[in-house]
Amino acid sequence: MVSHSGLITVMERAVRKAAPRLRRDFGEVQNLQVSRKGPADFVSMADKQAEETIVAELRNARPDWGLLVEEAGEIKGDPSKPRWIVDPLDGTTNFLHGIPHFAISIAVDDPVNGITHGMVYQPMTDEGFWAEKGRGAWVQGNRLRVSSRRDLADCIVSTGIPFLGHGDFTQWSRIFGAVAPEVAGIRRFGSAALDLAWVAAGRYDAFWESGLKPWDVAAGYLLVKEAGGFITDYRGTDRALEKGEVLAANDLLHSRLHKLVATSLR
Ligand code: IPD
Ligand code: CA
Ligand code: CA
Repeated sequence: MVSHSGLITVMERAVRKAAPRLRRDFGEVQNLQVSRKGPADFVSMADKQAEETIVAELRNARPDWGLLVEEAGEIKGDPSKPRWIVDPLDGTTNFLHGIPHFAISIAVDDPVNGITHGMVYQPMTDEGFWAEKGRGAWVQGNRLRVSSRRDLADCIVSTGIPFLGHGDFTQWSRIFGAVAPEVAGIRRFGSAALDLAWVAAGRYDAFWESGLKPWDVAAGYLLVKEAGGFITDYRGTDRALEKGEVLAANDLLHSRLHKLVATSLR
C-alpha cells in the first residue's frame, strides 16, 4: 500500500463521511427537494448536505484554512495558508437523472506552490483517485499513468458539451468538427472531475472542455499532471485552471490535438 500525507487522509475522511448520504439520496432521487439555480443547472439537497459535511470535516482538520466551495462560495481563512477547493457533487445533472456517474472533488491550493493535493472520489464505485505534487497519482494503491496511445485513430476523447444557457456552442462545435473525424470515439459522461481522473487513469486518451470552474478542475488538473499528462488551455499555456479551459492528454496526443484545436479556432 502506498503511503500518503496526512492531507490525503483528511480528504479521504471527508469524502467517506459525505458518500453514504449521497448514495442514499441517489437511491431516493425522486423524493429529493429540487430547486432550480438556472436552466439545466440544478442544485439538490444532496449537493448542499454533502458540501456541509465536507466543509465541516475540512475545517475541523485545518481550522485556519480558507475554502472555495461551489455552493457557499469563498470562505476566508489565513491568506498565508493553503485553501481547500471543493465540488461536493460534480455531475449533478447525472445524479438527478439517476445516472450513477458523479464525484466529489477536493483540492489543496497552496499560495506558493499552487495545487499540491487532489482527490476525486466516485461514491457509486468507491473509487478514490488522488495525487500529491511530486509524488504521483494513485487509485486504490495503484499508480496512475495517462494512456500511452500515440495514434489519434485509436483514441477515445472525452468532452463537455455546452448546454442550455451554459458555454460557447460555436467554439465547441468547431473543435468537435476538427477532432471527431480523427479519433475512434468521443464521449460526454457529464462530470469534468471524473473526465480528468479518467484521463489520468488512461481510460480516456484526452479531454477538452471550456467554461469550467476551479472546483471542477483543480483536483483533476493535478491528477493528470502527476499521471504524466499535459493539461493546458486551448492556446497551449499553463492557464487551464484560471481560464476554466482544458485540453488534457499525453504529450504526443496533446500536441496533435492542440494543433487541431488551434486551427479550428483560427
Ligand atoms: C458540471 C460537470 C459537467 C460540466 C459542467 C459542470 P456540476 O459540474 O462537471 O461535466 O460539463 O460544465 O458545471 O454542475 O455537475 O457540479
Ligand atoms: Ca462541477
Ligand atoms: Ca457541483
